[in-house]
Amino acid sequence: MMMAKKQDVRAPTYNLVVVGLSGTEKEKGQCGVGKSCLCNRFVRPSADDFYLDHTSVLSTSDFGGRVVNNDHFLFWGEVGRALEEGLECRLHVVEQTEFIDDQTFQPHRSTALQPYIKRAASTKLASAEKLMYFCTDQLGLEQDFEQKQMPEGKLQVDGFLLCVDVSRGMNRSFDDQMKFVTNLYTQLGKTKKPVVLALTKCDEGVERYIKDSHTFALAKKNVQVVETSARSNVNVELAFLTLAQLIDKSRGKSKIIPYFEALKQQ
Ligand code: GTP
Ligand code: MG
Repeated sequence: MMMAKKQDVRAPTYNLVVVGLSGTEKEKGQCGVGKSCLCNRFVRPSADDFYLDHTSVLSTSDFGGRVVNNDHFLFWGEVGRALEEGLECRLHVVEQTEFIDDQTFQPHRSTALQPYIKRAASTKLASAEKLMYFCTDQLGLEQDFEQKQMPEGKLQVDGFLLCVDVSRGMNRSFDDQMKFVTNLYTQLGKTKKPVVLALTKCDEGVERYIKDSHTFALAKKNVQVVETSARSNVNVELAFLTLAQLIDKSRGKSKIIPYFEALKQQ
């Protein structure tokens, strides 16, 4: 009986966006907070397909190629996963980053010149004929890799995975990162979409940073926290699936509408 019912239900597709501190070296220090590595480990977990280095410093031609496509976000691809109760879903993964010009060391100019925290909270993403990203070596050699396109039209964002790097970081202060994360969280909140906090690089995690992140999450309406390591492949699935489940739950809930609004809608 149960099986027959499930087959009738079409697998829902959710669009998940990975965000966190990004920018020039002045803002993010010598290395990123781990957004790319987290995406890589989730969509292509095998050791052969996992890369630790995903540069954000690009030439103008790589920025304009079909993978980056003059955007400050990457399409990491689509995966299928089973949510609770065996419900299948498709997940599209996008990373919001900031690409730096290898000549000027300033952010590449794109059509939308918004600051990162505004742009990262966009709930609609579009990029004509943009290709799925694999790794840095792919840029400029797009023909040598599988060419999979980001879905055409506007991608409706369903939820955000907000990364906090809890490792020592390279010449970047944790407190500055948390200021950025706090502002970013405020922007994400305006979208009303579910947010999950992913602590990254827990294999090198600093106890105080982990504690502070949990304190932050508790203060923000108890947002869920997942302690991950892309390098050690720990809890990466859990982070994305926690978000997907939150989205799925919020979909199922019927909205309670006051009488007069309901009357107007008739
Ligand atoms: P931008 O997109 O440039 O803002 O950076 P990002 O947030 O995508 O960071 P990225 O994933 O490129 O990671 C930056 C560096 O952090 C990597 O090159 C690794 O050296 C290191 N790193 C990433 N994930 C892990 C992890 O799980 N553990 C440890 N120890 N280091 C990691
Ligand atoms: Mg990145």
